[in-house]
Amino acid sequence: MGLATTILQSRAVAALASPHGVDRYLELVNPMWAATEVRARVVDVHRETTGEHPVATITLQPTSTWRGHRAGQYVQVGVEVPGARRTTRCFTISSAASAPGERFTLTVRAHSEGLVSKFLVERAEPGLVVHLSQAQGDFTLVESPATPTNNHLLFITGGSGITPAMSMVRTLLRDGYDGHVGRRVTFLHYARGPEDQVFADELASWADADNGVRVVLRHESAGDPRFSAIDLARLVPDFREVDTWVCGPAGLMELVELAYDGSPRLRTERFKPPVVKAGSAEGDVVFSRAGTQAANSGAPLLEQAEAAGLTPEFGCRMGICFSCTARKSEGTVRNVLTGEESSLPDEEIRICVSAPVGDCVVDL
Ligand code: FES
Repeated sequence: MGLATTILQSRAVAALASPHGVDRYLELVNPMWAATEVRARVVDVHRETTGEHPVATITLQPTSTWRGHRAGQYVQVGVEVPGARRTTRCFTISSAASAPGERFTLTVRAHSEGLVSKFLVERAEPGLVVHLSQAQGDFTLVESPATPTNNHLLFITGGSGITPAMSMVRTLLRDGYDGHVGRRVTFLHYARGPEDQVFADELASWADADNGVRVVLRHESAGDPRFSAIDLARLVPDFREVDTWVCGPAGLMELVELAYDGSPRLRTERFKPPVVKAGSAEGDVVFSRAGTQAANSGAPLLEQAEAAGLTPEFGCRMGICFSCTARKSEGTVRNVLTGEESSLPDEEIRICVSAPVGDCVVDL
């Protein structure tokens, strides 16, 4: 939009449009016009797998405000689910790195409890407009044809964790990655069975091509070995010295982290905070606005609030979007992602990743 964008983003226009903001008016004229917000129109929905937790790949045409993404990044997607307020969740982008305003894809598995994932997989159709954040995250590719090294790159993924690795290898292949100059990729993926295997045809074509990409699929239902350091060492003997990206269920991530024994070559991406063992915590949790008090279970405060019958606002449930922020007036909380504890009074905390340590009072 150039000049038009500059004018629309100016303070004078923002003041005129106050209190709703320029984008509220542009959206009324055309949902794909935006000065600062990012929105996208669904242009294609491709069903990858069916079954209990079906998977679909959704192609999005973003507004010109989309700044593009690096392979491996995720985006927050907000949808207006009928009968519910706008709900936001994070999804990793599965297509190769995109330039500003360029189309990209999300590959989404419908979880039984997942309001947004179910809506996108079961009901998204071309024409639907969704709200987006800019791309986020540091779980990204360091290798590119512009900065080639002779590194061996290793991707270990499980279930839906395949998506960032797909984006990275697709980017390498699209941009002219050439296995003949000594670089190679090992792509190790764990799935329940062939019927759950997303991108099966594309993975088979990578495996058949002479491109330096080795694809190893492990299917539980076929009796393939589960992840172990011994099995990995058979495939990649010096794996602790190899740049590795791992993404998948918590159990897989923990085993891989143990196998790498603190190696700085390992990069991780988690879908959810690590599971916190409840039951060992002490003290009481008070939700002051609701006037309820319950024994501290040790779970993150969002879960404890929901168990107490409250319905706090939330988005990603993994400490990224800040939509669950609430004020803690007393007590100590531990960040379940980092283990860091904080006892500051009257502090804003993300309740989805904050577990109380002893008595705690939260303004909910
Ligand atoms: S729900 Fe996103 S940070 Fe808590």
